[in-house]
Amino acid sequence: MPEQTRLTPEMLVPRIGEYLIKKGKLTEEDLEKALTYQRQQVSNGNSRLLGETLVDLGLIERSDLDATVTEQILRLRGALQAANRNLERRVKERTAELQEALHRLNELAQLKANFISNISHELRTPLTHMKGYIELLVTGSLGPLTEDQAHALQVSQHSTNRLESLIDDLIMFSMASRGELTIKQEPTEIMTLSEICVKSAQQKAESRGVTVHIAADEDLPLVQIDPQKMSWVISQLLDNGIKFTPAGGMVVVNLRKDSDKLVNVSIVDTGIGIPPERMKEVFEPFHQLDGSSTRRYGGTGLGLSLIQEIIEAHGSIIDVKSVEGRGTTVKFPLLISASD
Ligand SMILES: Nc1ncnc2c1ncn2[C@@H]1O[C@H](COP(=O)(O)OP(=O)(O)OP(=O)(O)O)[C@@H](O)[C@H]1O
Ligand SMILES: [Mg+2]
Repeated sequence: MPEQTRLTPEMLVPRIGEYLIKKGKLTEEDLEKALTYQRQQVSNGNSRLLGETLVDLGLIERSDLDATVTEQILRLRGALQAANRNLERRVKERTAELQEALHRLNELAQLKANFISNISHELRTPLTHMKGYIELLVTGSLGPLTEDQAHALQVSQHSTNRLESLIDDLIMFSMASRGELTIKQEPTEIMTLSEICVKSAQQKAESRGVTVHIAADEDLPLVQIDPQKMSWVISQLLDNGIKFTPAGGMVVVNLRKDSDKLVNVSIVDTGIGIPPERMKEVFEPFHQLDGSSTRRYGGTGLGLSLIQEIIEAHGSIIDVKSVEGRGTTVKFPLLISASD
């Protein structure tokens, strides 16, 4: 910043005496005289401005004092205007920098979504081949197997299934980040859909000593949903319930008719729960409450963020209630199909 535009305390509280000396309107001795007089006055309880004191003592003319004060006010105003202009320029520069950074950030987000999408599709093709051959081996179509071989293949099959669901999650995530998550709603039997989800979660639940069942009202009406995406949502919520519930606990899918318009779906577990202050975090993509390197529960932390997107894309809203050490309830209403 140029010297003349910098606002200094001297400029804001002008030292009138020195300024008058500089301008040749006052001598140092006269200034000293006035200052001594001013100090005396102050100690007697009469505070006087220096300019006024100089005029009172006849050391300068009032017109000279007025002209000097005016000059100083003008200088001050000039300095303020310059400082304002400078500030405006800096704000403009910063705004442009921030806009550029935002633009770069959007570009990067797009690149990331594209990358995840491409890599996920690339991973899927070889995986399909692996799954196909493992299936042929498991069913004995390529010859008889020893017990050890059968066991090894079962483990491989389990792993390829996990890999496949992880890739599906990543594809869903990249679709959601690019705003391509399309929902194709149709009248659907939520009971049948939930039964299929529970059935495929059953094995995992049993291996962990957790029971899973459905508690539903009779004669539930059809709901207006995207059946594929809603199965994914319920399966993910069952997966969470089972994963975060210690052995001996249970996970229940409740299906309750709420009114003429809604069916409430809730997935209730008796698991470890979520601390209230961390409730917000669980909806952030790739966020897991146990972020340690010795994570006990597995997964990528994508589930709930996508579940929320899918439920909201259905025009609904997700509600999570949890008590630490007691369990978690995830609830959302679904619209009853108009044809029902
Ligand atoms: N039912 C639950 N009980 C306790 N904690 C839960 C429950 N559901 C989710 N959480 C917490 O929220 C985090 C995020 O859940 P989310 O489903 O998004 O990810 P994840 O299950 O860890 O991984 P992914 O779903 O990708 O396999 C979990 O890691 C866990 O800490
Ligand atoms: Mg999950």
